[in-house]
Amino acid sequence: MKNTVVVGAQFGDEGKAKITDLLAQQADFITRFQGGSNAGHTVVVDGKKYAFHLIPSGILYENKICMIGAGCVIKPDDLEKEIGAIVSMGVSPEHFKKCLRISPLAHITMKYHSDIDGYSENALKENKIGTTKKGIGPTYTDKYARSGIRVEDLFNKDTLNNKLDIILNKKNKELEFVYNLIPHSKEEILKECERYKDILVPYVDFNWQENLREIKKNKSVLFEGAQGVMLDVDYGTYPYVTSSSPTSGGAAIGASMGAMAINRVVGVFKAYMTRVGEGAFITELNDETGENLRRIGGEYGVTTGRPRRCGWFDMVSARYSVLVGGISEIALTKLDVLDSFDEIKVAIAYKNKLTGEITKNYPTNVFTHKNYEPVYETFPGWKQDITKCKTYDQLPKNAKDYLCALEKMLEVNITIISVGPDREQTIINSAAEGDDPR
Ligand code: GDP
Ligand code: IMO
Ligand code: MG
Repeated sequence: MKNTVVVGAQFGDEGKAKITDLLAQQADFITRFQGGSNAGHTVVVDGKKYAFHLIPSGILYENKICMIGAGCVIKPDDLEKEIGAIVSMGVSPEHFKKCLRISPLAHITMKYHSDIDGYSENALKENKIGTTKKGIGPTYTDKYARSGIRVEDLFNKDTLNNKLDIILNKKNKELEFVYNLIPHSKEEILKECERYKDILVPYVDFNWQENLREIKKNKSVLFEGAQGVMLDVDYGTYPYVTSSSPTSGGAAIGASMGAMAINRVVGVFKAYMTRVGEGAFITELNDETGENLRRIGGEYGVTTGRPRRCGWFDMVSARYSVLVGGISEIALTKLDVLDSFDEIKVAIAYKNKLTGEITKNYPTNVFTHKNYEPVYETFPGWKQDITKCKTYDQLPKNAKDYLCALEKMLEVNITIISVGPDREQTIINSAAEGDDPR
């Protein structure tokens, strides 16, 4: 398999994990390159449902190495819980010790980061971002302010001591006077770090440079993104975004292998759209159709349980995602969710309600989005169950027409079509690629 990046191409929850799990069959090494336990990734194998947050979605295979990369942030308590949950489903603790690796360069989400995330959200009131409150923003803030704690620091007492003297001096003032939270003693934080070290020690890859050299030489790599392009800190609906870079550019940085290691970028789109948290969503449907999408698609957050906002496929943002996300082909998921709809809409442009102007370029200032309404093209539904379709040819004509129309507008081939949550419910559209794109 060519070295492949899986990128969420909408607002997250596109079904990336299912596609990562599928493509992982052909990869030797799977690496998460950004984000933390804000992600909620579902993989269904033989009817058994696994939820991942930080662990790469390829972990269910024997003999594949899964890495939590340098670009990630790790809350060790969450990771411990996540491993525990998968172990309780029958995967052995030894499997994790053998197959899971953690970059020593990843940053640690401390308890004060989650506290600050929660406090900031409450303080922002109606302007809140709607974060997962997992401490993601505050951890990345400290990383870029050069006052973060990295995994490797937990294993060096002197470094940790020195760092904490500097960090806590400022952090405690911030906690007390900005956030009205309780400051922490150094002893307390050292104890927390000791516990984190014990949780992480079986997995930390101190030999990562040698290992990656070998992998780059003769192994195939799958880069797993979390969140989505429209939540990207630079290109998403800023400030209603996450604090990392889920695009293929983020993969080049966060997986420690650089841009030349990437041969192929699979953008994952849902056949409609969802969003959790606040921020503009131009094709959102606050009506019965939106409720039907939520009910049929089971659109509730894996991490927070929040109902997802639902709407029609937005071609304006999709074309933008293809552009800035560096997407070279598409996996389209949840096509089956549209099985019962009489008609299916796609926003092919936006109309500015103030000026009447029609645009196909994505307006990046999210505060102007209230001025836009979608211009829809309507497609007839296929009104039949497609969950058992195994090949492209078995799909009903109207479904094929819908896919062709999307493909034409996106100017990128749809090579994978997902018609159900299970690994098996996947159509490889070899006509679009020339051969099996896995
Ligand atoms: P991710 O965060 O992008 O990995 O996506 P999530 O796991 O948060 O949400 C996707 C949901 O849709 C999960 O419950 C998946 O099991 C489910 N899913 C994935 N692909 C399909 C599909 O083609 N059809 C249906 N009905 N469900 C799917
Ligand atoms: P996966 O990987 C959907 C959203 C939050 C919030 C914003 C910022 O499952 O697709 P954060 O906690 O990251 O600071 O929150 O981003 N968000 C997600 N939405 N899927 C996700 O992950 C998300 N991770 C974060 O709801 O709006
Ligand atoms: Mg998710």
